[in-house]
Amino acid sequence: MRVEPAASLVGHLVVPGDKSISHRAVLIGALGEGETRVSGFGRSGDTQATVEAARALGADVEDVADDELVVRGAGLRGLGPGSVDCRNAGTLMRLLTGVLAGQEGEFVLTGDESLTPRPMERVAAPLRRMGADVETTDGHAPLTIRGSGSLRGAELEPEVASAQVKSAILLAALNAEGPTTVVEHIPTRDHTELMLEAAGARIRRSAASVTVEPAGALRLEEVVVPGDFSSAAPLLVAAALVPGSDLTIHDLGVNPRRTGLLSVLERMGARVSVFDRRRTAGEPVASVQVQPAELVATEIGAEEVPGLVDELPLVALLASHARGETRVTGARELRVKETDRIEAVTDGLRTVGARVHSRPDGWTVTGVPARLRGGRIDARGDHRIAMLGAVAGLASREGVAIEGAETAAISFPGFYELLESVTRQ
Ligand code: S3P
Repeated sequence: MRVEPAASLVGHLVVPGDKSISHRAVLIGALGEGETRVSGFGRSGDTQATVEAARALGADVEDVADDELVVRGAGLRGLGPGSVDCRNAGTLMRLLTGVLAGQEGEFVLTGDESLTPRPMERVAAPLRRMGADVETTDGHAPLTIRGSGSLRGAELEPEVASAQVKSAILLAALNAEGPTTVVEHIPTRDHTELMLEAAGARIRRSAASVTVEPAGALRLEEVVVPGDFSSAAPLLVAAALVPGSDLTIHDLGVNPRRTGLLSVLERMGARVSVFDRRRTAGEPVASVQVQPAELVATEIGAEEVPGLVDELPLVALLASHARGETRVTGARELRVKETDRIEAVTDGLRTVGARVHSRPDGWTVTGVPARLRGGRIDARGDHRIAMLGAVAGLASREGVAIEGAETAAISFPGFYELLESVTRQ
């Protein structure tokens, strides 16, 4: 697919429902009593894998519309034994491991060639400390979980700042004896905590920890999923880069643990305005408007990373258009995402004319406030890299050809069409 240079991006739009919240709505709904109605569901390759997993394990998931589901739960301990193909979805594999640790029976989780090499001991090890029987294959998928139904609460401090690891522990903790606390010094996204609270679980939170009490039953009833900030991010970044743009995205999830990109955009000089703030089903929602300006370099360190972990490839692109040297550090986690995103971004942006150097834990980018030449970017089977390529193309002089562009559908089917609808050539 070729993405030609844009003259501007102008308009108002909405993006599909948040992927993180959609996964959680199906999984927590499957553990619940009675019906959970999910509207604004972000249907994509990844979340469809979660719907099929819930069905395979005995929950009833009815497709009411493309963006609406009804989940009829099997109860906190009611999921049956079986095998699940998690496909490309790391969030599914990690959260489901936590869900299944406290069920009865044997479960096998597999994934595709991108998911299989990703690290899984990070969830297996803390769950074992709660008494779970989780076996990895040399630290990776396939995973075998032999649920014993006798987990014990624990105080755990995961080695990596990861919402997926935290969530796996919190979900297992629902079926444990005694409370479980996860200590996290760098806060990660809190959608699991918010949703469990909405479902009636007893949750205590402090600045650096979250505690879950064992639950009797969960009742989620209704989830209204806001627009996915990470899906909006490529559009917002394109609007910040292409002169003359003026783009507004409505009904967007703006959970403060997800919107680090907005602070970075503001620091770099883009014009950002957030308005019409409200709460929907416990999650903050707003409209976000972005207009371009001449950008300047910035610094991003470890404490900021979880708040924009999936947006960091886009930050490298912004940085290559910003006057001065931008350093991103503390982002080693990018090496174990759907692909090694540090190398994928370095190689991809270099081939379109950017000056990017990889570091073990990030990049150094020397930016110039001008369009990049353009060229070819290989998505390497990674949806975020495909979307990065599209934004690079819009902001370039000669356009960008994206190899493997279709992988965007892992998180955002319809991405290119939506982008085209606001692009003026
Ligand atoms: C996610 C958490 C992040 C993020 C992923 C979704 C989640 O991963 O990169 O796309 O839904 O919890 P880590 O928490 O492992 O960094």
